[in-house]
Amino acid sequence: MELKEIQKEILSWKPSFNEEVTTIWRSPSNIALLKYWGKRDGQLPVNPSLSFSLSKAHTTTKLTAFPNSNNRGIKAVNDNPEHPFLNKIKPFWQTVIKEIPVLTNYSIDIHTQNTFPHSAGIASSASGFSALTLTLIDVAQFISGNQLPKEDFLRYASSLSRMGSGSACRSIYGGFTVWGATDLWSQSSDYYAIDINQNIHPSFNNLHDAILLVSAKEKSLSSTKGHALMKEHPYANGRLLQANNNLSLAKKALAEGDWELLSDVSENEALSLHALIISSQGGDVLLEPASLELIQRIRNARYKGLPIFFTIDAGPNIHLIYPESAKANVEAFIFNELNDICPVDKVIYDHCGTGPQKIHELKNSNL
Ligand code: DP6
Repeated sequence: MELKEIQKEILSWKPSFNEEVTTIWRSPSNIALLKYWGKRDGQLPVNPSLSFSLSKAHTTTKLTAFPNSNNRGIKAVNDNPEHPFLNKIKPFWQTVIKEIPVLTNYSIDIHTQNTFPHSAGIASSASGFSALTLTLIDVAQFISGNQLPKEDFLRYASSLSRMGSGSACRSIYGGFTVWGATDLWSQSSDYYAIDINQNIHPSFNNLHDAILLVSAKEKSLSSTKGHALMKEHPYANGRLLQANNNLSLAKKALAEGDWELLSDVSENEALSLHALIISSQGGDVLLEPASLELIQRIRNARYKGLPIFFTIDAGPNIHLIYPESAKANVEAFIFNELNDICPVDKVIYDHCGTGPQKIHELKNSNL
């Protein structure tokens, strides 16, 4: 169904069940090769982005909904009414009850856990909001006695989680996804991500991401501040052209198994993101000397023939991407040649994952 039709159907859901309900979902983080940077009102992206979902870096969220409560809404995370995630959840909850009014009279209790440390520079908002959204829709289905077809469930989950955090909409699918309207994929939308795995060459199956932790004191830019910097950015028009052109090259590289082209485009996106951050009003430098040293060493190894490339989000840590076929060689490279900057305990090995998973059946009893 079209998103609008799904939203209309959900607005009509009525409670058919009046007891406590619990569900648990696990959802991954994702790493963008083509970067979402800059947004329009309604949490819509200025340009399309492309990412793959991770496997080990994920959030597990358990949500319990209590009916007919005077204490409506989400009051605590992990039993903590001051939990930092609550600041982000509160405005999101207003969107949730507008879109899923069947949840309005419920009090929601959330327990959530990430598999990765905060300092890892992995986008916890992507996994956190996608996991939360999946539990909310799942519970709403149970309460109302409705069940969306899988494709509609995922499309709606992607659209709603986008309202929590843009990149979260891409975590709803495993493998590669694209978010943002583009002529390159007829199904693409600014409102939700789409699964593009049918266009991917088998040599990109199970892509690896070794996250090289550069700084313990996480130096990253809040996404609110970061995206806002693009509003008045002198390079905004050029960035839009570049992002669309890079996406077209990435699509070709992914379809044809062209590792060199995907490497060039991805590194160009990562460096462009930082160039935009550096050149924005009050520009900030998020890369550390060690980030630059890693970039040089990765490039040297790459130009000598090792199939690797880097990507970077809005922080100093480096994501080293490599194919399954080069796993042993790249892990030896990290161990032998990056060890002085990133010893074993500063590397998180992850790989492309299969997407979110429901890990507990709904029950109306205490868990
Ligand atoms: C640099 O999704 O964190 O990681 O929508 O404000 O929550 P909000 O932003 P967020 O931005 C991610 C930016 C990025 C690039 C990307 O993941 O595409």
